Amino acid sequence: MTFVAHRDANQQLIPTPQDVDAKLLKILDAKADDPDFWSSKDRDRTDSAHNIFQYPAMMVPLVQRRLLGAVLEARPEIKSVYDPFMGSGTSLVSGMHYGLNVYGNDINPLAVLISRVRTARSVEFTVGAIAEQVVSEAMADRRDTIETSMANREKWFQADVSLELSRLRRAIRKCNDLWVRRFLWVTLAETVRLTSNDRTSTYKLHARPASEIERRALSPIAVFRDLARENAASFWAFRRRLNEGKQLKSAEYIAQTDVRVGDTRNAKDYWGNVAPFDLLMTSPPYGDNLTTVTYGQHSYLPLQWIDFKDIDPAADVATLRTTQEIDRRSLGGAASENVWTEEKLLAASPRLKHFADGLPAKPADGRARLIRFYRDFGASLDSILNVITPNSYMIWTVGNRNIAGQQVPTDLVLGELVEGLKCKVVTTLTRRIHHKRMPDRNASSATMREEKILLVRKIGA
Ligand SMILES: C[S@@+](CC[C@H](N)C(=O)[O-])C[C@H]1O[C@@H](n2cnc3c(N)ncnc32)[C@H](O)[C@@H]1O
Repeated sequence: MTFVAHRDANQQLIPTPQDVDAKLLKILDAKADDPDFWSSKDRDRTDSAHNIFQYPAMMVPLVQRRLLGAVLEARPEIKSVYDPFMGSGTSLVSGMHYGLNVYGNDINPLAVLISRVRTARSVEFTVGAIAEQVVSEAMADRRDTIETSMANREKWFQADVSLELSRLRRAIRKCNDLWVRRFLWVTLAETVRLTSNDRTSTYKLHARPASEIERRALSPIAVFRDLARENAASFWAFRRRLNEGKQLKSAEYIAQTDVRVGDTRNAKDYWGNVAPFDLLMTSPPYGDNLTTVTYGQHSYLPLQWIDFKDIDPAADVATLRTTQEIDRRSLGGAASENVWTEEKLLAASPRLKHFADGLPAKPADGRARLIRFYRDFGASLDSILNVITPNSYMIWTVGNRNIAGQQVPTDLVLGELVEGLKCKVVTTLTRRIHHKRMPDRNASSATMREEKILLVRKIGA
């Protein structure tokens, strides 16, 4: 492909996309000498209200923000950032520090709730005081009606825990402001995570032994009160920073934010009226949820206590049909037909073919799951490329994983797939991870000690 030099109205040379690539590489090279640039060592745990819920595999806001800063230095005309696998919204809040329009979707309703709280354009200043009132009201509540109809409740919650969670739920429902309720639902979600009988050491649902459950004396109302105080404080630190950075006007975020419940395989259907986006920044799942990170199972218990209508009218309560349903609906979770046949996929990625062909016979479904995931991933790529502008950059943070003790070359496979779709891998960066919650210990397939960051440019229309 050749690029012709263009001049603007003032006869200034307009840089070609290749010139911009070169400029960006120079900027990144200059940062390469600074080991702290990519490191998460100096991260601040209250940064961008990052910790309001422990969502699995969260990106580090500081690192994403620095990456974004480098791209914006090379291409200051960028106005919007899109994350098609947004999780807890790290890319979006990073974009807010630069005053960008931020857009994201996720298949998991809990991810949408957290991201909506973090990316709200305007927020209620008195949320801390309102949370204290909610706590007082829950403490004064003497009713013993249980506010969830979930199956198997006794397995996951002690009787007095269910009682207090119900009292909190009733009190939250009485708040008038939608953003306040969402903030309180996220706080309740974290309370559920800490007070249920599920072990917090893994993302997969796994009840603690009965003896341990009996020994635990828990008060969800007290846990909620402490979390609400922390969350309100970290939220204000985030808003203060946005304000200092001149990204708020009359206390309202200066640009657009839009977060949706949605499957990325159909992204072009529901983003059609807002797209195209100027930049993509994301960390996709790196395998099917069941054998990597069970985002859905991790969200299952908290979602049982949250009013779905407060998340989004499109949030489907049927995702709570079973503990596996969200994971089943996620990439690679179930067999589905799409244009990415196994043949097309393996032709597009010789690395994937080589890896798949070399897999041992056990586990028996290892190969099938791998192919199923990448077929769905291919369909997502088609959709994504439809909603971003020509020559836009994509920043993909990818983790590697093992199947049968062998590491899937996720970064190389992604590189081959995008290059087959008229994109160029401009560079691949490696980031070592200092602190990262590990996925389920029992999933022999999961490792995430190193991340690769692929900087990709979509070529042409
Ligand atoms: C690695 S996580 C993203 C974490 C995020 N970067 C953060 O900092 O919190 C990947 C996300 O992809 C979502 N996901 C999986 N399949 C999806 C699909 N088909 N459409 C949209 N999102 C999906 C999962 O629910 C999960 O939240």
